[in-house]
Amino acid sequence: MPRIDTGTLLLGAILAAMAVATVAYVAVTAIRGQRRDAARLGAIGYVRSSFASRLDRTIPLSEVLRDMTESLRRNLGLDAAEVWTASNGALERMVSDPERGPARFPLTGSEESIVAHAPVSGIAWAKVWLPAVLAERNGATIRIAPVSHTGHLLGLIVAERRAGAPALPAEADATLKELAREVGVAINNARLDSALEATLEDLRQHAEALEASRARVVVAADAERRRIERDIHDGVQQYLVAISVKARLARQMSDHDPARSGRLLEELGQDISKALDELRTLAHGIYPPLLASEGLGAAMVAAARRAVIPTQVHADGIGRYAPELEAAVYFCCLEALQNAGKYAGEGAAATVRIHQDGDTLVFEVADSGAGFDLKTHPRGAGMTNMMDRVGAVGGTLRVDSNPGRGTTVSATIPLRTAVTES
Ligand SMILES: Nc1ncnc2c1ncn2[C@@H]1O[C@H](COP(=O)(O)OP(=O)(O)OP(=O)(O)O)[C@@H](O)[C@H]1O
Ligand SMILES: [Mg+2]
Repeated sequence: MPRIDTGTLLLGAILAAMAVATVAYVAVTAIRGQRRDAARLGAIGYVRSSFASRLDRTIPLSEVLRDMTESLRRNLGLDAAEVWTASNGALERMVSDPERGPARFPLTGSEESIVAHAPVSGIAWAKVWLPAVLAERNGATIRIAPVSHTGHLLGLIVAERRAGAPALPAEADATLKELAREVGVAINNARLDSALEATLEDLRQHAEALEASRARVVVAADAERRRIERDIHDGVQQYLVAISVKARLARQMSDHDPARSGRLLEELGQDISKALDELRTLAHGIYPPLLASEGLGAAMVAAARRAVIPTQVHADGIGRYAPELEAAVYFCCLEALQNAGKYAGEGAAATVRIHQDGDTLVFEVADSGAGFDLKTHPRGAGMTNMMDRVGAVGGTLRVDSNPGRGTTVSATIPLRTAVTES
């Protein structure tokens, strides 16, 4: 039987006691750590509820996210927390605590879709799908929670602990996931709000422009009425007065001076022809007869023949539209052609294109002439009238020009109920 001396027994007892003490210490430390993490995870509930309660849309989203990020970092015992947002094919760091400044990197459509559907993940996953998010982290461990809404990537929440610090407990992933879901709803709402605001602003501007253009159309209509009255007074009315005087004279002379009466009747015939011409010109200025009978294509071809510069018309395949719409397009093209004739310069040519694109009528008058700088050339009555005419039928006019590069006037007009026949 082997002999054991008392010294050896004592050493064995000391070692056994140390082992028990070590095990006990490790156990106590682990319990303390779990308690601390549990307390932190409990505090996350507070982060969540305070975050949710602030999402009442009166506080800017960036401010709410900044507070949320700070709370998240404190309560999860992180060294850094960040929120990234995804838009226009890129991810961008929106807020970070501590502040790290902006960062941005592109993301393809398929990468976005994969990230949007990913669970809360760590470094190994990020190395494959989001390597740019790992830049400048000096070996820190991170958890990334994708923020998405109805399958679309809206951003990321990044939780970071520096290299060497204990990793986050597994329960933290559930918290990050829930937080990401709430942030997703918040970002989605904020985007819907701003889209709605932009639409409302557009509508407001459109309504204002329409109101102003209606007022100008009324003023222009009054002015036009006065012009027609003046033209009738100075033109056709004068012929008719002369005709009635000459007719009376011819009747009086028919008995005693038939030769003179005959001459007067001849003059009368000429005066009637002139009066008819005058009337035709006047009627043409009000509403071109060809436009009324044959429509835009034929009326523009005729107008192109009268144009000062060589003009081609492409209007095949269009139908007939409401008279006010056909008049708006016709007079705009006419004014644009007149401008081209006045300003495009020698050797310039013009092209008129009119076509229907679904529920929209599109026209374009382009010239290859001198062009002009839109900033330095004030809009005259011609351009204002074009805008008003197009605006009055619900369309939008565009003028593109550059010195030496020609001029293009174009417009799109929604057809709505305006199509009368095809
Ligand atoms: N096709 C074009 N080529 C070069 N400059 C053009 C052209 N169209 C318009 N412009 C410039 O834009 C200005 C504004 O045109 P707008 O038709 O509004 O007025 P206007 O032709 O000068 O006068 P009006 O009231 O008689 O039409 C013109 O004075 C001219 O300088
Ligand atoms: Mg003009």
